[in-house]
Amino acid sequence: MTEAPSGVPESARHLFDALPERVSLYEVGPRDGLQNEAVVLPTDKKVELIEGLADAGLRRIEITSFVNPRWIPALADHMEVATSVRRRPDVRYSALVPNMRGLDGASRAGMEEIAVFLAASETHNRKNINKSTDEALATYRTVVAEALRRGMRVRGYVSCVYGCPYEGPVAVEAVLRVTRELVDMGVYEVSLGDTIGVGTPRQVQFVLERLLDAGVAREQLAVHFHDTRGTALANIVVALEFGISTIDSAIGGLGGCPYAPGASGNVATEDVVFMLQGMGVETGVDLDALATLSVRLSGYLGRELPSKYLKAHVGHCSRVGVPV
Ligand code: HMG
Ligand code: MG
Repeated sequence: MTEAPSGVPESARHLFDALPERVSLYEVGPRDGLQNEAVVLPTDKKVELIEGLADAGLRRIEITSFVNPRWIPALADHMEVATSVRRRPDVRYSALVPNMRGLDGASRAGMEEIAVFLAASETHNRKNINKSTDEALATYRTVVAEALRRGMRVRGYVSCVYGCPYEGPVAVEAVLRVTRELVDMGVYEVSLGDTIGVGTPRQVQFVLERLLDAGVAREQLAVHFHDTRGTALANIVVALEFGISTIDSAIGGLGGCPYAPGASGNVATEDVVFMLQGMGVETGVDLDALATLSVRLSGYLGRELPSKYLKAHVGHCSRVGVPV
């Protein structure tokens, strides 16, 4: 009988060797989260949320979207939100923009950063922004050039990277194409969106290998996972191993996409911070302050938020009799 191999496999000896010392969290709760909540948060509560996130240590926050309010009614108060938030000099605030009208609104509101967005899937673009992929790219060429001329920073999103709710699997070449187009326009970063939460670690490896091999700089990539099927944290670990150090997340795990049926919340900021802190990766976020904010937000929305860390934290606090 041959003996079973023992000892630590060589491959496992190098796990986490390449972890970054710190990551930059890009908080999307006030935009991606609130755009899809059944309860529309009043403007003053949105402002309180955004200011609370900054106070908890988030340094990049997407605060709203200047899109057609008929399409996204929950963020119809974009102008009031963007002009009411008390700005901190150490925080970068951004807003989603789909066209020139959105850019003009963001400019008037004093935004210094915007984010443009399109999917790697043709049908999702039709459903979400009423344009073909080529029409969306043509629009963004003008929008990004004008935003840069106005001195704004521009981020880009590619949605449906790991699958589309209408078309199913999405070709990695389509992801590469729109990513390159966005980079060529001059966006400083492209966030790769798992809009419907179907990505698995192997797929993340496959997509990132293709993009990096094709010459996209890892410093220009961010990851944006919806945790619909529970794979988001595992996927984030893979992205970290590829040297990607910008992670999108939403407080409490809020979120979804109204034009992506079945999409659920973004990976929860608390869960990401807890995992990274445990791995010795700096986030700059005060987890207790964030949890306190989440509990308040959960009260405003009248529902329990999906963050697993939050559930454990609230349970622990009630067991030991301390306020959250
Ligand atoms: P459209 O109907 O084709 O626009 O919508 P249009 O140019 O034909 O104009 C129609 C009307 O909309 C006009 O008004 C325009 O003025 C108005 P009317 O004359 O009929 O009264 N309009 C606007 N109003 C306010 N702000 C604007 C604006 N633009 C036109 N910026 C449009 C095209 C793109 C505007 C529309 O489809 C839209 O607003 N879509 C938004 C979709 C959206 O926000 N989806 C969720 C975000 S994406 C996401 O969540 C994914 C992400 O998180 C990453 C991931 O998870 O993968 C980013
Ligand atoms: Mg999203």
